[in-house]
Amino acid sequence: MKPQIKQLNVYQPGKTAEELQTELGINGEMMKLSSNENVYGPSPAVQRALQQALKNLHEYPDSSGRALKQTIAAHYDVAEASILLGAGLDEVIMMLSRAILRPGDVILTSDQTFVQYQHHAVIEDCTIVTAPLTDGKFNLTALSAKISADTALIWLCNPNNPTGNYFSEEELTAFLDQAGDIPVVLDEAYAEYVTATDYPDSFALRAAYPNLIILRTFSKAYGLAALRVGYAVSSDDWTYLWHHVKLPFNVTSLSLAAADAALQDQSYLTTVQQRNAVERQRYFASEVSKYLLPSQTNFVLVETEDIKQLNDYLLDASIIARPTPAGVRITIGTAAQNTVVIKALEDYFA
Ligand SMILES: Cc1ncc(COP(=O)(O)O)c(C=O)c1O
Repeated sequence: MKPQIKQLNVYQPGKTAEELQTELGINGEMMKLSSNENVYGPSPAVQRALQQALKNLHEYPDSSGRALKQTIAAHYDVAEASILLGAGLDEVIMMLSRAILRPGDVILTSDQTFVQYQHHAVIEDCTIVTAPLTDGKFNLTALSAKISADTALIWLCNPNNPTGNYFSEEELTAFLDQAGDIPVVLDEAYAEYVTATDYPDSFALRAAYPNLIILRTFSKAYGLAALRVGYAVSSDDWTYLWHHVKLPFNVTSLSLAAADAALQDQSYLTTVQQRNAVERQRYFASEVSKYLLPSQTNFVLVETEDIKQLNDYLLDASIIARPTPAGVRITIGTAAQNTVVIKALEDYFA
């Protein structure tokens, strides 16, 4: 067995509402705001696509995911050959790590970011070099100072999970100019929620930076977390190579059909984006804003000295949040849910 896997922890998902109800003896309904899911659910077009796809459960899925790739390619004006589909970005992150990393390689990323980048680097027996976040976003100046001849792969998360803040296109291009031809993965899982106008237009940057690998998912703004679909867009040559580590039928027919329908319903996505932006603004207009890091996502990160105490307080108020080393992360819910959460936070800090 690879000795390094003994130092890892098995991923601990947040507890379900049912588990916590039993554990805490709470009778009423609990609000699950711990996994940055889309509280509005997916487009109604997804239900119809699933009904149709249910007719073919006896057949293997299209291994190439051709129809979904065509829709993604048309949407972002990229070549189908540049797209790698995975069972969620979790699988895409695993495939990229498996394809790129050799034992002893160095990966570069930030402290307090999405844990899977480091998890797979450990499995591949690599060294992890990090720079601290600044104000909840990647500090690309600090990160570029750590690039060395041994750096094999760089992971950027924008906006960052669990903190929610983002870096601009200007910051990104200055960094990419330093990275040379090292593969730079740009995880944009929350991109659809961003309203900042200086957020990078990553797809437009691909021509100038062929080492850029963009990650997107259907789990967040498209509301399909249960169906597990994510993808990478990189140069055609690299994407061809990544396919050698892909399992033949990694994305199910139901998932392919649902993601395709979701991407085609951009007016529904706009509704989700607008609702989230309005609700996000309510947090920042409230008394608790001084405890929040800036957010361009569907969650807020509450900074506090006693993370466990705040998390327990919220649980007592039937709010399931996510304690992280950086603070307590809370998914932005529906208007009614946010009224309850903001009031609970105000009471706590009062
Ligand atoms: C930054 C980031 N990347 C990737 C993922 C994985 O997403 P999925 O596997 O659901 O596509 C998440 C999920 O929370 C995330 O926050």
